[in-house]
Amino acid sequence: MEDLERLREELTSAVAGTADTQALEELRVSALGKKGQITGLMKGLGGMDPDERKAMGQALNALKAEVADAIEARKAALEDVELDAGLETDRIDVTLPVRPEMQGRIHPISQTIDEIVAVLGEMGFNIAEGPDIEDDWHNFTALNIPPDHPARQEHDTFYLPGEQDGERMVLRTHTSPVQIRSMQNGDPPFRLIVPGRTYRCDYDATHSPMFHQVEGLAVDKTTHMGNLKGCLIEFCRAFFDVDDLPVRFRASYFPFTEPSAEVDIGCTREGGAFRIGHGDDWLEILGCGMVNPKVLENCGVDPTEYQGFAFGMGVERLAMLKYGIPDLRTFYETDLRWLKHYGFRALDVPSMVGGLNR
Ligand code: DAH
Repeated sequence: MEDLERLREELTSAVAGTADTQALEELRVSALGKKGQITGLMKGLGGMDPDERKAMGQALNALKAEVADAIEARKAALEDVELDAGLETDRIDVTLPVRPEMQGRIHPISQTIDEIVAVLGEMGFNIAEGPDIEDDWHNFTALNIPPDHPARQEHDTFYLPGEQDGERMVLRTHTSPVQIRSMQNGDPPFRLIVPGRTYRCDYDATHSPMFHQVEGLAVDKTTHMGNLKGCLIEFCRAFFDVDDLPVRFRASYFPFTEPSAEVDIGCTREGGAFRIGHGDDWLEILGCGMVNPKVLENCGVDPTEYQGFAFGMGVERLAMLKYGIPDLRTFYETDLRWLKHYGFRALDVPSMVGGLNR
């Protein structure tokens, strides 16, 4: 016991005398670590007779706790001192010019989303967001895709195990469920765009299990198909920076819109070179339509008073077309050489006045 008292004094004064956190850590290991002094003494308990073991065990536990507390307290004090010293000596000169060699690049997906947002933001659309993990109702049912609807099969859905409030959970297969959430949580009129991640079980040169979409929704008392066409023709021309870009609306089907259309833009493949603009060919770039009255009703918006249009586009597809990126998988290979080639300068933020793609 006397030895213990001596050890206690020795250790506590050693703790108090440590000059920095590293020395303190070394001391902690030498006292309380696997091969430490106190640990060593505890290992000796096994060879003692019961009474002695009990008394010694209690004393050792008390000593261990006391030393550990002393170390913690000293550590907090030393960390404060070290932080103060660091703040005193580390200085950042914020007046230095930007380094000419800029290594960082904006990923083409971020850039493309910024460009889409710049065009549609200028038209008065606001950004809305929703969760990546959705319930079945928001992702499908509320969008007029009931459980046995064939459109569900096209979505190659990732289902999550278990349920929440009686609903199966999925990784959202499109950004359209944010239409539902926004209409449920607000009052018309609505003018919103939803850039975000989406997920489908698919992987090849033009599909990735995680990809991006931008959804659009405009709802008001007099919103009509002419508004939809004007908005999307203007969007395509501004986004691709071709003033007379041919844009056509081809009848299509989506459960959540009626009527529905797909939008094609003009292009040529003359001499093997692909170019967007006047030409003899068409390329599909997005889906759209007038919001199905059933969808409005599902969100508590009166379809006899309000009507609207919606659209959805794939960001990767638009980025590939605009910037001539041939394989979608390369977006996610985190190859720095690729990013240096296809990436954008960090300080060139796209805007309608400053230009979309400087
Ligand atoms: N949600 C559709 C998809 O992922 C895209 C879409 C098409 C969204 C038409 C819309 C729309 O809002 O009106 O394939």
